[in-house]
Order: sequence, then C-alpha cells, then structure tokens
Amino acid sequence: MTTDIDQLRQDLLASVDAAMSLDALESLRVHALGKQGAVTALLKTLGKMSPEERQSEGPRIHGLREAVTEAIAARKAALEGAALEARLAAEVKDMTLPVDATPQGSVHPVSQVMDELAEIFADLGFSVATGPEIEDDWHNFTALNIPDTHPARAMHDTFYFPEGEDGAQKMLLRTHTSPVQIRTMVQQKPPIRIIAPGRTYRSDSDATHTPMFHQIEGLVIDKGITLGHLKWTLETFLKAFFERDDIVLRLRPSYFPFTEPSAEVDVGFSIEKGKRVIGGSEGWMEVLGSGMVHPKVIAACGLDPEEWQGFAFGCGIDRLAMLKYGMDDLRAFFDGDLRWLRHYGFSALDVPTLSGGVGA
Ligand code: DAH
Repeated sequence: MTTDIDQLRQDLLASVDAAMSLDALESLRVHALGKQGAVTALLKTLGKMSPEERQSEGPRIHGLREAVTEAIAARKAALEGAALEARLAAEVKDMTLPVDATPQGSVHPVSQVMDELAEIFADLGFSVATGPEIEDDWHNFTALNIPDTHPARAMHDTFYFPEGEDGAQKMLLRTHTSPVQIRTMVQQKPPIRIIAPGRTYRSDSDATHTPMFHQIEGLVIDKGITLGHLKWTLETFLKAFFERDDIVLRLRPSYFPFTEPSAEVDVGFSIEKGKRVIGGSEGWMEVLGSGMVHPKVIAACGLDPEEWQGFAFGCGIDRLAMLKYGMDDLRAFFDGDLRWLRHYGFSALDVPTLSGGVGA
C-alpha cells in the first residue's frame, strides 16, 4: 500500500508537469480525481479500513488528493499564462510594415454628411465659410444680440476658459456655428451666401447630446430677401439631402435673439415598418432653427440694415446623419467602432457626389 500511494503520487505529479495542453491536463484530472479516478478509488477504500489503518492511511490519501489538486491548479495557471503570452506575442502589430492594402475604415458619417451638405449648397451658389472653435464672447453672443444678461446665455451650457488678464475678453468654446455669420459679415461685402459647418461645444451629455457636436449654419445677405427665399432654400436642401420629393416642411413661430421673425422648422415623417422615415406628414420632427437676420445683428457687423436683409438657419449635423441613416444613439458616433460603420453601410471608398446621388 505504502509504495502504491507513493508511486501513484510520483506518477501523477510527473504527468501533471508533463501535460502540454489544457485538454491533456483536464483528462489527467478526470483520470485521477474524477468519479472513476485513481485517487477517488483510494479514497473509497478508507471506508472499509479498520480504525487504526484509517488513522495511518487517511492522512496519506487525503494528502495525495491535495497534492494532485494543487499541482493541477498550478499547471493550469502556467499553461493559461503561456497561452496568453503567446497570444499577446502573436497579436503584435509591426507599425513599420506597409498598411493593409484593403482599407478598413471609412469617411466618418459626420464628415460624409458635411461633404454632402457642401455639395448640395454649392449647387445653390453657397460657399463654405469657417471660424475658430475657440471664440470670444462678442462673436459667440454679443454681436448675435445676446447681451451679457440675456437668459439665452445660460441655456447654452457654455464651456468658458479661465478668466484672462484684466480687460481681456472672456474666451469660450463656441456653442453654435452662428458666430461664423458675424465673422463673415465683418470680413466680406454683401451679397453673401455661405454655409458654415463645424464643431460646436456644450456641457451636455446623454443619448442625444454629446459635449462636442456638429452644426451647420447658413447665411444669406442681399437686397430684398424674404421668408419665401428661406423656405424655398430649406425645402430644396432637405429634398436633396434626404433624396425624396415628398418632404413637407412646417415653419413654427419661435424665438432666437439673432433673427426676427424666427421660425423652427419641422420636417414631416411617416412610419414604415415601425420606424420613422423622413417624408410624408404623419408626424413632425424639429430639424432646424431659422429666421430673418435681426437688424441689430446686421448693424453690429457694420452693415446698414435698411439696405441689407437676409436669412439664416442653423442645424445639428449629427442629428441630420441620425435621421438619414436611422441611427439611434449619438454616442456611437465617437466610439470609432468599425462594426458600427459597416452596419450602417459605410465603406472605405464612399465619396459623396451630386451626380452619383449624394447618399451614394
Ligand atoms: N444658433 C442656434 C442654436 O445653436 C441655431 C440657429 C437658430 C441658427 C436660428 C440660426 C438661426 O442661424 O437663424 O441653437
């Protein structure tokens, strides 16, 4: 008996040490400690022993079981560690190699939509204007007829930079693309027809808000501009963007400090297979803010509001993209997940063109 147990112990520990895979180790475990296992069989013999025998053999057999259990656990950890090491070593990327010939990513849906918008508006005679993302208070608020005490300032959840030197203007991350209206009117002589797509920032975050988001601003300054021009432009733009002729707009009276009158624009949607689809008029979704540029804004830019009028509009680009592609969580825009891009049908070689259909 003595030699049996010692021998078994030696054999089992040697086999455990020699096991080269987790599978091999598992079959060893079953062989030793399973229901029909060798160690289990020894344990079963304890019941039939005399008390004296049991007193001497019991600790040895239990000791054997513990030793084998421990050895298996240790070997298992070693094998798993080695497997992880091997995987880490195999997954190393050599950054000096040329990139994979088949492109993996794609133009981001937001960039894609911005390109589409630039195409659509270029066709209508608009050029693209830009402005800084770090703005001063005057361009972001004051010149847009939002004075210091105006409640709209509180509504913008502005990210301010720390106070500057005495007398220096407060700097902030622009809360909308509207300051580009101001920069354009200050720099350029009318007639003006611009769009300004770009990044904007507000301290807000949930499924439909991210602290950084994208807007597009539109501005037309000329003589004899009316609300009719505004409505036609928006209708033409939305029909081209959603690639449907049955786009119905609803202008709701609203308030923005920089326009008078102001209107919020809803676009009609219908329900297809339980999902909202732009087009028709079963329900209404707000898509943009707009209005006739306030005379005070025109005057703040050094132009005579008696001579020049115009319209402006502002719209969330991320929201436009979500509506067009049926995406429901804005936060996914910033995850950089290839599977998400592919799910929505974006491929590496997508380039929007008017001839191919902007959504092609
Ligand atoms: N700047 C507004 C916002 O961020 C959107 C907006 C509304 C822009 C009306 C406009 C406009 O140009 O006319 O909420």
